[in-house]
Amino acid sequence: MAEQDEVKRRAARAALAHLPEEGVLGLGTGSTACHFVDAVGELVRAGRKYAGVPTSERSRQQALSLGIPLLSDEGPWEIDVCVDGADEVSADLDLIKGGGAAHTREKIVNYASRLNIIVVDSSKLSTRLGEKWPIPIEVLAYGHKATERLLAAYGRPVLRMTGGQPTKTDAGNVIYDLHVEPIKDAGGLAGLLALVPGVVGTGLFVGRADIVLVAGQDGIRTLERPRGAR
Ligand code: 5RP
Repeated sequence: MAEQDEVKRRAARAALAHLPEEGVLGLGTGSTACHFVDAVGELVRAGRKYAGVPTSERSRQQALSLGIPLLSDEGPWEIDVCVDGADEVSADLDLIKGGGAAHTREKIVNYASRLNIIVVDSSKLSTRLGEKWPIPIEVLAYGHKATERLLAAYGRPVLRMTGGQPTKTDAGNVIYDLHVEPIKDAGGLAGLLALVPGVVGTGLFVGRADIVLVAGQDGIRTLERPRGAR
């Protein structure tokens, strides 16, 4: 476990080479992204002029404890680089995110960023999304069982639980993990799921990773979306 965490730390720190000397950074959520936030804290203490936009209350608390100045939640922001983790990365560099229930805020910050860097260990790589991970879907608490019925047209929705209670997002919504077969058309499915009443946001990030830094036992691999596709 400690070894796995060290691999995640190496992936996160590899992102530092892509940061501007100063500017606005999107601060991802999760056990990999938290190593990046730690590193930004070190840079701020060393005098770098960064401001952060956190993607969850967890990353907000971490950033505040490290003295990283934060922009207000309202936006709009001009974010230079966002660094975040992922649960699954396909061969096309599409992503499933939301294992930490933060994907709706993560997606808002991702879309506000000029450069999106995803940091993962090699266990997250797959050929097609859905091979390894269900799709986390943030659903409005009101009528969530009605939304569940509609989601069942696309897979097997499972209400995520924490301590015997439905897991709540930072916005007070619930999460359904939608178990699907490996996905042929992630963009098409993302569009259909977004139309389901009650769906606040899905963990499908299609075409939203510019650079994926993959840490393994043999070092760091850099996977890049072709420039024209950005
Ligand atoms: C949180 C996320 C995380 O980035 C994702 O779950 C990866 O987390 P970890 O680095 O802990 O494996 O999407 O909503």
